Amino acid sequence: MSETRIPRWKSWPHVIRIQDFTVADLEDLVAHARRFEEALKKRQGLPRLWKPRPAILELLFFEASTRTEHTNWVAGYLLGMGVRDVPNPKVFSSAVKGESLVDAICALTRTGGMGEMRAADCVVIRHGDEGSAQIAADTIDIANGDGSGPKTPLPVINGGDGKGQHPTQAMVDLLTIFCERKISSDRHPLDNLNILFTGDLLRGRTSNSLMYELGRFGFDHKIHITFSTLGGMEPKDEILSYLARRGIDYGSESNFKKALRDADVVYLTRHQKERATPDEPLFSVEERLPFTFEKGDEHLLKEGAVIMHPLPINRNPEDPPPEIDNFFTPLAIKGDPRFAWFRQSHRGVPLRAALNDFIFAGIDSGWERVPQNVSMT
Ligand code: NCD
Repeated sequence: MSETRIPRWKSWPHVIRIQDFTVADLEDLVAHARRFEEALKKRQGLPRLWKPRPAILELLFFEASTRTEHTNWVAGYLLGMGVRDVPNPKVFSSAVKGESLVDAICALTRTGGMGEMRAADCVVIRHGDEGSAQIAADTIDIANGDGSGPKTPLPVINGGDGKGQHPTQAMVDLLTIFCERKISSDRHPLDNLNILFTGDLLRGRTSNSLMYELGRFGFDHKIHITFSTLGGMEPKDEILSYLARRGIDYGSESNFKKALRDADVVYLTRHQKERATPDEPLFSVEERLPFTFEKGDEHLLKEGAVIMHPLPINRNPEDPPPEIDNFFTPLAIKGDPRFAWFRQSHRGVPLRAALNDFIFAGIDSGWERVPQNVSMT
């Protein structure tokens, strides 16, 4: 393990945007997560780089979560951290009395004036507003900079900020592609990858982060991205121009069935109507139906193709159709190699543990914030 490089990224030690990570950072992270995954499968202790010390991981989820919150909790526990979960802070914190995010972060982390007498050593935050994770990180950095005590960094991890990003989900997705793609071992898992995105690509933060992440690999691997979704739910222009700048070949295909035939990976996403602003379109069941993965569509897939979904799948009978027919759930539960979403979500544990391990090993080796002269692309 001694030769493992502990990466540090542009926003280090915070994890706010996936494009702050270089290709080398992401490759190292995936390799470390794979070691963790193997250890967990064998029910062995994690081959961690960080020598655990008393440390608290604070989970601050202002929005609902099943996987991100749970896998962060387990990852922290497996690393030997104390994990505190503020249950539903919108209801059970002083947010209900009008408290701001900045004030809550100061209270919950106790950075700054009290020096190292902290209430948390790492914060994972999920919030409905884009930019909230950056606000939390800035608050902590200001408090640390002005405080009188030692300045050990206190990382903030973005667990999803509104319609912005969900960087650790993109890392989980990358790990999943590396593990699931059926490709000869002498080739890189992203070589000639043809990935199809469908669903709500305008408001989905997981697809935003995954596209930015694939963009990082654009100059090293031939990657083709196809969007097949309703007009009005295509990715934001800033993402498309990033992909173009990063050498990603992308295009749109209105015929979902046709797009399915060429894909190595299909990335389904949920219709995020709760995030729609009044000026954004909402689509009827009839309009969305042509973009549902239906029974029979599995026969259209290429040999070895994999269906991924960051989850949740909306199975509310009042709001049909789900983006994938319920017929496929038992197959996914049984571990059918084509339907990867449960394996994808379970990889949240090794991935998030590996990420925290890198962060804490880096901090304990004396690294503070990334110095200005470090060249980061
Ligand atoms: C998503 C999220 O919250 O952004 N899920 C996740 O964290 N894995 C996707 C969604 O809400 O549809």
